[in-house]
Parts: sequence; C-alpha cells; structure tokens
Amino acid sequence: MDFIGPVTAIAGVLGALAGALGAYPAIAKYQEEKRARLREKIDEQLESERQEQPADLMPAQIVWATTASEQSFQYRKSKAVISIANFKGGVGKTTISAALAAYIGSVKGKKTLVIDFDYQGSLSLMFMRMLGRRDRTSTSTKLISRDAQSSTVRELATSLSGPAGSNACVSNCDLFTAFYPLDTHETTEMVNWSRDGGNDVRYRLRHLLDSRAFDEYDVVIIDCPPRFSTGTINALCASTHLIIPSIMDILSAEAVVYFCKQIEQLKSRIFPNLQLLGILPNMVYRAERFTQREDQIAERIDGEVRRILGGDQWVMREAALARSSVMGGDAGDAAPSVFSAAAIAAFARTGLAISKRLW
Ligand SMILES: Nc1ncnc2c1ncn2[C@@H]1O[C@H](COP(=O)(O)OP(=O)(O)O)[C@@H](O)[C@H]1O
Ligand SMILES: [Mg+2]
Repeated sequence: MDFIGPVTAIAGVLGALAGALGAYPAIAKYQEEKRARLREKIDEQLESERQEQPADLMPAQIVWATTASEQSFQYRKSKAVISIANFKGGVGKTTISAALAAYIGSVKGKKTLVIDFDYQGSLSLMFMRMLGRRDRTSTSTKLISRDAQSSTVRELATSLSGPAGSNACVSNCDLFTAFYPLDTHETTEMVNWSRDGGNDVRYRLRHLLDSRAFDEYDVVIIDCPPRFSTGTINALCASTHLIIPSIMDILSAEAVVYFCKQIEQLKSRIFPNLQLLGILPNMVYRAERFTQREDQIAERIDGEVRRILGGDQWVMREAALARSSVMGGDAGDAAPSVFSAAAIAAFARTGLAISKRLW
C-alpha cells in the first residue's frame, strides 16, 4: 500500500489548493473526481491484497491446530456454553459477560457458571467487589490443569449470591476467577502438552463441563482475553456458541473480520461444533435504531463475514446495546453498576434477544 501515503499527501495539497480557490466550481469538481479516483484505487488495492492472502494458518495458531483426537461432540446433559470473544480490547466482552450472566441467572433463573479466562481479571474484580471481597485467587487455572479432578474443581467455584439478605448479589451464578497467575499457568500447561503429550490440553474444560460434578449448570458464560491463549482455546473447544461483541466503528469492523478469519481456520480442525451466534453491536448511539454510520458499518461487517462464513446477516441488530452510564464503569474503581437494577433493565433487550437465539 506504498502509494497511498504519497497519493494522500498529493490529494491533501490539491484539497488545500482547491479550498483556497473554492469559488471556482470547475476546480471543486476536479477535486471531487480526484477523490473518487483515489477511493477507487484504495478499494482496488484492498481487494487485491485480500486475494493475495495465503490460506495458510497464521504462525500463532499452528500449535493449536494440530489434528485433534476428538472433534465432533455433544454434551451428555444439554447446556449452552457461550464464549464471549474478540481480539480487540475495549469492545465490551467483560461488560457483556457480566450483564448476560446477571440476566440469565437472576432474570431467567437458569443455573449459570461464569468463567473468567482473562488474567487481567476485570470480570473477577467486578464480581469480587460486588461481594465485598478482596482476595484475588485464580481458580480458573484449575479448569485447564492436567490433574483436574472434576468434583474437587467444582468446589472451587465462588457463589455470587452474596451473604443472606444482601442485595449486592446475582442469583443462580457461580464464578471461576482469573488473575495474573493464570498467565504462567497457561503457558506451562501448553508447553508441557506440546512437549510430553498426554491428555489434550485443548479439551480439559470440555471434559470438566461434561462431568457429573458440573451437571447442575444450564448455561456457561466464558469471558475470553483478546488472544488465542490456552484459556481461549479451551473456551472455544468447549463452547456450543460464540458471541463477538463489537463497537460499530471502522477499526472494530476490521478487527471482527480478522477474528472471524482466524476462527474459521481453526474451526474445522478443532471445534467443528461451535456455532457463531452473531456479532453483538455494543455502545451504539441508540439500541433501537442505528445511526446512518452505524448502519453502514453493520452492512460492511455482514458483507465481509458472509464472504468468510456464508450465511446472511451476522450483526445482531435486534440485540444491540447502547452506550449508557449505567453499563459503564471501571472494575477497579468504585462499585460497578453493571449489576444494578438500572443496568439489568438497560440490558434486558439484549438479554432477551440473545435468549431467543439460544433457545
Ligand atoms: N454499553 C456500554 N455503555 C457504556 N460503557 C460501556 C458499555 N460497554 C462497555 N463499556 C465500558 O467500556 C470499557 C471497555 O469494556 P470491557 O467490557 O472492559 O471491554 P473488553 O472486555 O472487550 O476489553 C469499560 O470501561 C466498560 O465499562
Ligand atoms: Mg475484558
């Protein structure tokens, strides 16, 4: 794309010149035509780059894509296991994981397990603050451990119901926490497996969730970090559904397309059962009606994802979540508002739309 810099610079100079001479319609028209030609050139260049992209796996994926001994799979006891993932940060993965858990547990009354696989621990901090707890143990490490015994691991889940009489609680939900120790643990488990073999590190969570000790859970919600970590791979291999939250802006749209390509490359090799539920628009201006710009971005995402995965509409317009102060807030700061009655009400439309797609 070497030519774009100089061409843009030339167009800029022409623009300035034309601006100065704006009174002359002929120059303005010339400038407009020039811009249109530039846009066309950029589009052509993007298209040819796209066609040149090798179909090979990206290097970071190779270790994960090793042929799997187990592929097609159904849980013994049916349950929805939902990964919330995107390789872009700040799009609302954690917020949506927390709000969806609160909605499904407290409003739908389904027994829900929430798993934090992001060692930065935002989701865990949010819930621990809600419970008024300061401990920062990392229990989700056990979900990917070679030596994991299902009944012992199950005991490590933290109930989010809070003390009796407390209104700071989320009903019917348990949590596995993540903090920085998860990082080293993930690398160790992955390295040991690729060096020594043994029980497949990619399917450890799936085995646990399929065990009797975890039978009580109807729904599992997994907050993934923005990369293919050992936790993310376990989440995808164990999941029945994937939700990709995204902001409706151009950079986020590119990130969604990139992420979908990576998912598609691994899917047939290691998690063929995973179903993309959709791309969830977050922080839109108004949930019920997109702005013209948001609409254009949604169209573009639909078009590009269709080229990768087939299908039709991937953007879950009916589930869009608006930017609102009740949904926002820093987990490390004051008590998070995402579990307040106002936040649960703000999330109701999204929660209902997701439920309709699931059941
Ligand atoms: N619908 C929303 N309205 C307002 N703020 C939001 C909304 N969704 C997310 N945020 C805020 O945006 C920031 C990033 O969200 P987060 O859930 O941490 O993203 P991710 O997990 O993808 O990195 C946080 O400060 C969060 O409070
Ligand atoms: Mg997060």
